[in-house]
Amino acid sequence: MRPSRICLPAVALALAACGRGPTTPAPSEEPAIVPRPAELEYTGRTVTLGPDVVVSLTGPGSELLAPALDAWTREQTDRFGIAFRPASADEEADLVLTVESVSEAPPEGYTLEVEGERARLAASDPAGLFYALRTLGQLQRRGEAPGTWTLPEIRIDDMPRFRYRGMHLDVGRHFFPVDFVKRFIDLMARYKYNRFHWHLTEDQGWRIQIDAYPRLTEVGACRAETQVEKNFDPFVGDGRQYCGYYTKEEIREVVAYAAERFVTVIPEIEMPGHSVAALAAYPELSCTGGPFEVSTMWGVKEDIYCPSEETFAFLETVLDEVLELFPSEYIHIGGDEAPKKRWEESELAQAVIDREGLADEHELQSYFIRRIERFLTSRNRRLIGWDEILEGGLAPEATVMSWRGMDGGIEAARQGHDVVMTPTSHVYFDYYQADPEGEPLAIGGLTPLDKVYGFEPVPPELTADEAGHVLGGQANVWTEYIATPEHAEYMSYPRALALAEVLWSPVEMRDWESFTRRLPSALAELDRLGVRYRPLDRR
Ligand code: ACM
Repeated sequence: MRPSRICLPAVALALAACGRGPTTPAPSEEPAIVPRPAELEYTGRTVTLGPDVVVSLTGPGSELLAPALDAWTREQTDRFGIAFRPASADEEADLVLTVESVSEAPPEGYTLEVEGERARLAASDPAGLFYALRTLGQLQRRGEAPGTWTLPEIRIDDMPRFRYRGMHLDVGRHFFPVDFVKRFIDLMARYKYNRFHWHLTEDQGWRIQIDAYPRLTEVGACRAETQVEKNFDPFVGDGRQYCGYYTKEEIREVVAYAAERFVTVIPEIEMPGHSVAALAAYPELSCTGGPFEVSTMWGVKEDIYCPSEETFAFLETVLDEVLELFPSEYIHIGGDEAPKKRWEESELAQAVIDREGLADEHELQSYFIRRIERFLTSRNRRLIGWDEILEGGLAPEATVMSWRGMDGGIEAARQGHDVVMTPTSHVYFDYYQADPEGEPLAIGGLTPLDKVYGFEPVPPELTADEAGHVLGGQANVWTEYIATPEHAEYMSYPRALALAEVLWSPVEMRDWESFTRRLPSALAELDRLGVRYRPLDRR
């Protein structure tokens, strides 16, 4: 990667290199882009576009950008009264978007140039062009004349540091309607996230329609009531039935919506633990036979899938239906927090241990995950799971999501496996973001904005080769104590802005002072979008 370069106001773009200008940065003049681009040069001058903006979109695959460009131009028309018109043949456009297969831009990278009353966006793939548009969207300001914009005269060469830039949402503990899920994805995409990890099954609710097993949603999508605050013992419930699931049609709608924003949706179907809602529907999949109720209390449950042939047949059928809905290469199978007590006590589980020559229940979990991996591989998909899948031996091609700190990720990378870093220490957005005293009830922890900004996904312990296995990072939004869309946004923003910069910008461009200078502009955008983020000065 070339060193980052920020040119100064008054350095003409025409200069061959910014080195010829003065060398002291003028930080207050830097256009406020989050995440900060890899390289930018600006002159401090502005250009005006409008009232009629002629647009061209060309190049291989550029049609994939058409829906996003359409949504974007509508937004500009609503905001600024700008009128857009496609360029006719041979007409020179004001806003030029090109996918150029010859461009040197790396995957998802782009160049953006605003000069001479014209904005030129170019990328070697449609995703890069989408990100160029996201950046342009943060640059425009209302012009003096009605229906016009001003843009800074600027040149940007940008590309992501990491290819996996994720956010997760738990819809098991609390259910979030399709409209909110779409909004969550739209917001992510504005800040150049590209993976939405949809945690669809839990002890407290099964949220995805599966035709072969209708009781998963008839029974598993409803719990009798919900735990009130932290009343575990004695348990206090709210006495109100709580239900919700997504139909296949709704899931297709979300996947398509995300694809238009270059976001891949990774479904999570939890196994062998966090499966009480499924066991309530089909108790024969457990080791004890049940009966079970969909959990009303938070926490880790001892009842998990029994490793019977019936369970594997069930999971493969469920996964086949899931694969039909989600084109994602990665399928998340959970794997975390699966107590081994039921397997220790189960004749069937012990017989599997004997039959397969396994040392203990941890190796049995490994056997379980390997079987599921073999199945996914046979369908040309890849398995990703929480770091407990390391215990008892990692499945051959598995990717590890390291959540209990970085150690699981370090170990997996050393074994030559890919990893996604999601440690509780920095990116659990269900944790408090300020002194709990003034905050709504949260699960615990304390992860303020600057802590998220300081997250480094590549641990210093890794060699360069091993570090190459770190695909990126992800924020996790677990929802035991997050019951509404408003609250989910409050917990996610502005922290998601900080993480966006961690995952996109080169390390040398990451600078807390700079980020806090650019933050007010980003928050103004969130205000405009009606995002109910946590205000910085809230007490
Ligand atoms: C997790 O937070 N149990 C992955």
